[in-house]
Amino acid sequence: MVQEFDKVGVVGLGAMGAGIAEVFARAGFSVTGVEIDAAAVGLGRDRVHRSLDKAVSKGKLTDSERDSIIDRVVFSAEREDLADADFVVEAVPERIEIKRDVFADLDRVCPPGTILATNTSSLSVTEIAALTGRSDKVVGLHFFNPAPVMKLVEVVSTVGASSGTLEVAAEVAKRIGKTPVVVPDRAGFVANALLVPYINDAINVYERRIASREEIDTAITKTAGLPMGPLTLADLVGLDVCLAVMDVLWEEFRDPRCAATPLLRRMVAAGLLGRKSGRGFYDHT
Ligand code: CAA
Repeated sequence: MVQEFDKVGVVGLGAMGAGIAEVFARAGFSVTGVEIDAAAVGLGRDRVHRSLDKAVSKGKLTDSERDSIIDRVVFSAEREDLADADFVVEAVPERIEIKRDVFADLDRVCPPGTILATNTSSLSVTEIAALTGRSDKVVGLHFFNPAPVMKLVEVVSTVGASSGTLEVAAEVAKRIGKTPVVVPDRAGFVANALLVPYINDAINVYERRIASREEIDTAITKTAGLPMGPLTLADLVGLDVCLAVMDVLWEEFRDPRCAATPLLRRMVAAGLLGRKSGRGFYDHT
Protein backbone atom coordinates (compact mmCIF):
# COMPACT_ATOMS: atom_id res chain seq x y z
CA MET A 1 0.00 0.00 0.00
CA VAL A 2 1.48 3.33 -0.99
CA GLN A 3 1.05 6.57 0.92
CA GLU A 4 -2.41 8.15 0.81
CA PHE A 5 -2.66 11.81 -0.11
CA ASP A 6 -5.08 14.17 -1.77
CA LYS A 7 -3.28 17.45 -2.53
CA VAL A 8 -2.03 17.64 -6.08
CA GLY A 9 -0.41 20.48 -8.00
CA VAL A 10 -0.49 20.92 -11.76
CA VAL A 11 1.94 23.40 -13.26
CA GLY A 12 0.94 24.63 -16.71
CA LEU A 13 -2.74 24.77 -17.73
CA GLY A 14 -2.49 24.50 -21.50
CA ALA A 15 -4.41 21.81 -23.38
CA MET A 16 -2.61 18.99 -21.53
CA GLY A 17 -2.28 20.61 -18.09
CA ALA A 18 -5.93 21.72 -17.97
CA GLY A 19 -7.02 18.21 -18.92
CA ILE A 20 -4.74 16.71 -16.26
CA ALA A 21 -6.07 19.11 -13.59
CA GLU A 22 -9.62 18.15 -14.58
CA VAL A 23 -8.85 14.43 -14.34
CA PHE A 24 -7.42 14.80 -10.82
CA ALA A 25 -10.32 16.98 -9.63
CA ARG A 26 -12.87 14.54 -11.07
CA ALA A 27 -11.15 11.75 -9.12
CA GLY A 28 -11.61 13.65 -5.85
CA PHE A 29 -8.16 15.21 -5.39
CA SER A 30 -7.72 18.80 -4.23
CA VAL A 31 -5.92 20.45 -7.12
CA THR A 32 -3.86 23.62 -7.28
CA GLY A 33 -3.42 24.60 -10.91
CA VAL A 34 -0.60 27.06 -11.47
CA GLU A 35 0.12 29.22 -14.49
CA ILE A 36 2.68 31.89 -15.20
CA ASP A 37 0.48 35.00 -14.83
CA ALA A 38 -3.10 36.11 -14.32
CA ALA A 39 -3.95 36.04 -18.03
CA ALA A 40 -2.67 32.45 -18.40
CA VAL A 41 -4.52 31.45 -15.23
CA GLY A 42 -7.71 32.84 -16.78
CA LEU A 43 -7.20 30.83 -19.98
CA GLY A 44 -6.47 27.67 -17.97
CA ARG A 45 -9.57 28.16 -15.82
CA ASP A 46 -11.66 28.66 -18.99
CA ARG A 47 -10.33 25.39 -20.45
CA VAL A 48 -11.30 23.41 -17.36
CA HIS A 49 -14.71 25.10 -17.08
CA ARG A 50 -15.48 24.64 -20.79
CA SER A 51 -14.66 20.95 -20.65
CA LEU A 52 -16.83 20.39 -17.56
CA ASP A 53 -19.69 22.47 -19.03
CA LYS A 54 -19.53 20.29 -22.14
CA ALA A 55 -19.85 17.20 -19.96
CA VAL A 56 -22.91 18.75 -18.27
CA SER A 57 -24.52 19.64 -21.61
CA LYS A 58 -24.03 16.02 -22.74
CA GLY A 59 -25.69 14.77 -19.57
CA LYS A 60 -22.44 13.15 -18.34
CA LEU A 61 -22.27 15.34 -15.22
CA THR A 62 -24.96 17.10 -13.18
CA ASP A 63 -24.65 20.80 -12.39
CA SER A 64 -23.86 20.00 -8.77
CA GLU A 65 -21.20 17.41 -9.72
CA ARG A 66 -19.57 20.00 -11.96
CA ASP A 67 -19.69 22.58 -9.17
CA SER A 68 -18.08 20.27 -6.63
CA ILE A 69 -15.33 19.35 -9.14
CA ILE A 70 -14.68 23.07 -9.72
CA ASP A 71 -14.65 23.65 -5.95
CA ARG A 72 -11.76 21.21 -5.68
CA VAL A 73 -9.56 23.30 -8.01
CA VAL A 74 -7.69 26.41 -6.92
CA PHE A 75 -6.17 28.43 -9.76
CA SER A 76 -3.07 30.45 -9.02
CA ALA A 77 -0.22 32.39 -10.59
CA GLU A 78 2.06 31.63 -7.61
CA ARG A 79 4.21 28.49 -7.51
CA GLU A 80 4.51 29.15 -3.74
CA ASP A 81 0.91 27.91 -3.50
CA LEU A 82 2.26 24.41 -4.08
CA ALA A 83 3.95 24.42 -0.67
CA ASP A 84 1.52 21.81 0.68
CA ALA A 85 1.20 19.65 -2.44
CA ASP A 86 1.93 15.94 -1.99
CA PHE A 87 2.30 15.27 -5.71
CA VAL A 88 2.96 17.74 -8.53
CA VAL A 89 2.58 17.22 -12.28
CA GLU A 90 4.44 19.64 -14.54
CA ALA A 91 2.91 20.25 -17.97
CA VAL A 92 4.64 23.43 -19.19
CA PRO A 93 5.98 23.94 -22.76
CA GLU A 94 8.62 21.51 -23.93
CA ARG A 95 11.65 23.76 -23.52
CA ILE A 96 14.38 22.76 -21.12
CA GLU A 97 14.97 26.34 -19.92
CA ILE A 98 11.30 26.59 -18.87
CA LYS A 99 11.47 23.18 -17.14
CA ARG A 100 14.68 24.27 -15.38
CA ASP A 101 12.94 27.33 -13.96
CA VAL A 102 9.85 25.36 -12.91
CA PHE A 103 11.76 22.48 -11.29
CA ALA A 104 14.10 24.82 -9.41
CA ASP A 105 11.03 26.49 -7.89
CA LEU A 106 9.24 23.20 -7.19
CA ASP A 107 12.34 21.80 -5.49
CA ARG A 108 12.55 24.92 -3.31
CA VAL A 109 8.84 25.29 -2.55
CA CYS A 110 7.59 21.72 -2.12
CA PRO A 111 8.31 19.61 0.97
CA PRO A 112 11.17 17.12 0.53
CA GLY A 113 8.75 14.19 0.34
CA THR A 114 6.71 15.62 -2.54
CA ILE A 115 6.97 13.64 -5.77
CA LEU A 116 7.57 15.79 -8.83
CA ALA A 117 6.20 14.32 -12.06
CA THR A 118 6.74 15.63 -15.56
CA ASN A 119 4.35 15.19 -18.47
CA THR A 120 7.17 15.70 -20.96
CA SER A 121 6.94 13.78 -24.21
CA SER A 122 10.19 14.84 -25.81
CA LEU A 123 12.69 15.67 -23.09
CA SER A 124 14.66 13.21 -20.98
CA VAL A 125 13.07 12.65 -17.57
CA THR A 126 16.55 11.82 -16.24
CA GLU A 127 17.81 15.25 -17.30
CA ILE A 128 14.80 16.93 -15.71
CA ALA A 129 15.34 14.94 -12.48
CA ALA A 130 18.95 16.12 -12.44
CA LEU A 131 17.70 19.72 -12.26
CA THR A 132 16.48 18.98 -8.73
CA GLY A 133 18.07 17.86 -5.50
CA ARG A 134 15.61 14.96 -5.26
CA SER A 135 16.13 12.87 -8.40
CA ASP A 136 14.83 9.79 -6.55
CA LYS A 137 11.46 11.55 -6.31
CA VAL A 138 11.17 12.67 -9.94
CA VAL A 139 9.24 10.57 -12.42
CA GLY A 140 7.60 10.91 -15.82
CA LEU A 141 3.80 10.80 -15.86
CA HIS A 142 3.05 10.99 -19.54
CA PHE A 143 -0.58 11.60 -20.47
CA PHE A 144 -2.06 11.40 -23.95
CA ASN A 145 -4.19 13.95 -25.74
CA PRO A 146 -7.05 14.48 -24.87
CA ALA A 147 -6.00 13.77 -21.29
CA PRO A 148 -9.54 13.41 -19.89
CA VAL A 149 -10.30 10.68 -22.44
CA MET A 150 -7.17 8.63 -23.15
CA LYS A 151 -6.69 5.80 -20.68
CA LEU A 152 -2.95 5.21 -20.99
CA VAL A 153 -0.42 6.93 -18.75
CA GLU A 154 3.25 6.11 -19.18
CA VAL A 155 5.08 6.08 -15.86
CA VAL A 156 8.61 6.89 -16.96
CA SER A 157 11.37 5.45 -14.79
CA THR A 158 14.89 6.82 -14.63
CA VAL A 159 18.10 5.32 -13.27
CA GLY A 160 17.71 7.57 -10.22
CA ALA A 161 13.99 7.16 -9.44
CA SER A 162 13.25 5.07 -6.36
CA SER A 163 10.96 2.07 -6.63
CA GLY A 164 8.70 3.78 -4.08
CA THR A 165 8.31 6.79 -6.39
CA LEU A 166 7.37 4.58 -9.34
CA GLU A 167 4.91 2.68 -7.18
CA VAL A 168 3.22 5.88 -5.99
CA ALA A 169 3.06 7.28 -9.54
CA ALA A 170 1.47 4.08 -10.87
CA GLU A 171 -0.98 4.05 -7.95
CA VAL A 172 -1.90 7.69 -8.57
CA ALA A 173 -2.53 6.89 -12.25
CA LYS A 174 -4.91 4.10 -11.19
CA ARG A 175 -6.68 6.39 -8.70
CA ILE A 176 -7.50 8.80 -11.55
CA GLY A 177 -8.87 5.97 -13.67
CA LYS A 178 -5.89 5.55 -15.97
CA THR A 179 -3.95 2.47 -16.99
CA PRO A 180 -0.30 2.94 -16.03
CA VAL A 181 2.51 1.30 -17.96
CA VAL A 182 6.03 1.63 -16.56
CA VAL A 183 8.45 2.48 -19.38
CA PRO A 184 12.15 3.39 -19.49
CA ASP A 185 13.45 6.91 -20.11
CA ARG A 186 14.29 6.48 -23.80
CA ALA A 187 13.39 8.89 -26.61
CA GLY A 188 9.66 8.60 -27.29
CA PHE A 189 9.31 6.24 -24.29
CA VAL A 190 7.18 3.43 -25.78
CA ALA A 191 3.95 4.83 -27.21
CA ASN A 192 5.44 7.80 -29.07
CA ALA A 193 8.39 5.73 -30.31
CA LEU A 194 5.76 3.69 -32.18
CA LEU A 195 3.21 6.40 -32.93
CA VAL A 196 5.28 9.33 -34.13
CA PRO A 197 7.29 7.51 -36.85
CA TYR A 198 3.93 6.22 -38.12
CA ILE A 199 2.67 9.83 -38.32
CA ASN A 200 5.91 10.78 -40.08
CA ASP A 201 5.42 7.94 -42.60
CA ALA A 202 1.94 9.30 -43.33
CA ILE A 203 3.32 12.81 -43.87
CA ASN A 204 5.87 11.32 -46.27
CA VAL A 205 3.10 9.65 -48.27
CA TYR A 206 1.26 12.98 -48.38
CA GLU A 207 4.36 14.99 -49.26
CA ARG A 208 5.22 12.62 -52.12
CA ARG A 209 1.62 13.06 -53.39
CA ILE A 210 0.95 9.34 -53.27
CA ALA A 211 -2.42 10.05 -51.68
CA SER A 212 -4.49 12.97 -50.46
CA ARG A 213 -4.79 13.71 -46.73
CA GLU A 214 -8.37 12.38 -46.72
CA GLU A 215 -7.34 9.18 -48.52
CA ILE A 216 -4.50 8.59 -46.07
CA ASP A 217 -6.73 9.13 -43.04
CA THR A 218 -9.59 7.08 -44.42
CA ALA A 219 -7.24 4.25 -45.35
CA ILE A 220 -6.23 3.95 -41.71
CA THR A 221 -9.54 4.57 -39.95
CA LYS A 222 -11.35 2.08 -42.15
CA THR A 223 -8.73 -0.64 -41.92
CA ALA A 224 -6.99 -0.44 -38.56
CA GLY A 225 -10.15 0.64 -36.76
CA LEU A 226 -8.38 3.60 -35.18
CA PRO A 227 -10.59 6.58 -34.26
CA MET A 228 -8.47 9.02 -36.28
CA GLY A 229 -6.17 8.82 -39.26
CA PRO A 230 -2.52 9.86 -38.83
CA LEU A 231 -2.83 13.37 -40.28
CA THR A 232 -5.91 14.20 -38.21
CA LEU A 233 -4.06 12.82 -35.20
CA ALA A 234 -0.98 14.92 -35.99
CA ASP A 235 -3.21 18.01 -35.98
CA LEU A 236 -4.65 16.97 -32.60
CA VAL A 237 -1.26 16.26 -31.02
CA GLY A 238 0.29 19.44 -32.46
CA LEU A 239 2.81 19.40 -35.29
CA ASP A 240 5.39 21.07 -33.05
CA VAL A 241 5.04 18.24 -30.53
CA CYS A 242 5.32 15.63 -33.33
CA LEU A 243 8.46 17.35 -34.61
CA ALA A 244 10.02 17.59 -31.14
CA VAL A 245 9.47 13.86 -30.59
CA MET A 246 10.79 13.01 -34.08
CA ASP A 247 13.93 15.04 -33.44
CA VAL A 248 14.74 13.30 -30.14
CA LEU A 249 14.06 9.91 -31.73
CA TRP A 250 16.45 10.78 -34.56
CA GLU A 251 19.03 12.12 -32.11
CA GLU A 252 18.91 8.97 -30.02
CA PHE A 253 18.48 6.18 -32.59
CA ARG A 254 19.53 7.60 -36.00
CA ASP A 255 16.88 5.41 -37.58
CA PRO A 256 15.96 6.83 -41.03
CA ARG A 257 12.27 6.36 -40.20
CA CYS A 258 12.81 8.89 -37.43
CA ALA A 259 14.11 11.65 -39.71
CA ALA A 260 11.39 14.31 -39.75
CA THR A 261 9.96 14.96 -43.20
CA PRO A 262 10.86 18.38 -44.63
CA LEU A 263 7.14 19.18 -44.88
CA LEU A 264 6.63 18.66 -41.13
CA ARG A 265 9.59 20.92 -40.36
CA ARG A 266 8.38 23.66 -42.74
CA MET A 267 4.83 23.56 -41.41
CA VAL A 268 6.09 24.02 -37.86
CA ALA A 269 8.36 26.87 -39.00
CA ALA A 270 5.32 28.49 -40.64
CA GLY A 271 3.28 28.22 -37.45
CA LEU A 272 0.92 25.61 -38.90
CA LEU A 273 0.70 23.56 -35.73
CA GLY A 274 -2.66 21.85 -36.11
CA ARG A 275 -5.75 22.44 -34.00
CA LYS A 276 -4.08 24.74 -31.53
CA SER A 277 -3.05 27.25 -34.22
CA GLY A 278 -6.20 26.80 -36.30
CA ARG A 279 -4.44 25.16 -39.23
CA GLY A 280 -2.31 22.10 -39.83
CA PHE A 281 -3.02 19.39 -42.38
CA TYR A 282 -6.63 20.51 -42.06
CA ASP A 283 -8.29 23.86 -41.46
CA HIS A 284 -9.66 24.09 -37.90
CA THR A 285 -10.93 27.67 -37.96
N1 CAA B 1 -11.37 16.92 -23.65
C1 CAA B 1 -12.29 16.19 -22.96
N2 CAA B 1 -13.09 15.27 -23.53
C2 CAA B 1 -13.00 15.13 -24.86
C3 CAA B 1 -12.10 15.86 -25.65
C4 CAA B 1 -11.27 16.80 -24.99
N3 CAA B 1 -10.37 17.54 -25.65
N4 CAA B 1 -12.25 15.49 -26.95
C5 CAA B 1 -13.20 14.55 -26.94
N5 CAA B 1 -13.65 14.33 -25.70
C6 CAA B 1 -14.66 13.36 -25.26
C7 CAA B 1 -16.01 13.77 -25.77
O1 CAA B 1 -16.66 14.67 -24.88
C8 CAA B 1 -16.75 12.42 -25.82
O2 CAA B 1 -17.13 12.08 -24.50
P1 CAA B 1 -18.44 11.16 -24.25
O3 CAA B 1 -18.21 9.86 -24.94
O4 CAA B 1 -18.47 11.05 -22.77
O5 CAA B 1 -19.58 11.94 -24.84
C9 CAA B 1 -15.63 11.45 -26.23
O6 CAA B 1 -14.39 12.11 -25.89
C10 CAA B 1 -15.68 11.20 -27.71
O7 CAA B 1 -15.57 12.46 -28.36
P2 CAA B 1 -16.42 12.90 -29.65
O8 CAA B 1 -17.70 12.11 -29.69
O9 CAA B 1 -16.50 14.38 -29.70
O10 CAA B 1 -15.48 12.55 -30.85
P3 CAA B 1 -14.81 11.19 -31.22
O11 CAA B 1 -15.67 10.02 -30.94
O12 CAA B 1 -14.32 11.44 -32.58
O13 CAA B 1 -13.53 11.10 -30.24
C11 CAA B 1 -11.29 11.45 -29.64
C12 CAA B 1 -12.59 12.10 -30.15
C13 CAA B 1 -11.49 10.97 -28.22
C14 CAA B 1 -10.23 12.53 -29.69
C15 CAA B 1 -10.98 10.23 -30.58
O14 CAA B 1 -11.01 10.63 -31.90
C16 CAA B 1 -9.64 9.60 -30.28
O15 CAA B 1 -9.50 8.81 -29.35
N6 CAA B 1 -8.62 9.95 -31.11
C17 CAA B 1 -7.26 9.43 -30.95
C18 CAA B 1 -6.54 10.24 -29.96
C19 CAA B 1 -5.15 9.71 -29.70
O16 CAA B 1 -4.68 8.74 -30.28
N7 CAA B 1 -4.46 10.39 -28.81
C20 CAA B 1 -3.07 10.09 -28.50
C21 CAA B 1 -2.22 11.11 -29.17
S1 CAA B 1 -0.51 10.85 -28.85
C22 CAA B 1 -0.19 11.84 -27.55
O17 CAA B 1 -0.97 12.60 -27.07
C23 CAA B 1 1.15 11.67 -26.94
C24 CAA B 1 2.14 12.68 -27.18
O18 CAA B 1 2.96 12.91 -26.30
C25 CAA B 1 2.29 13.33 -28.49
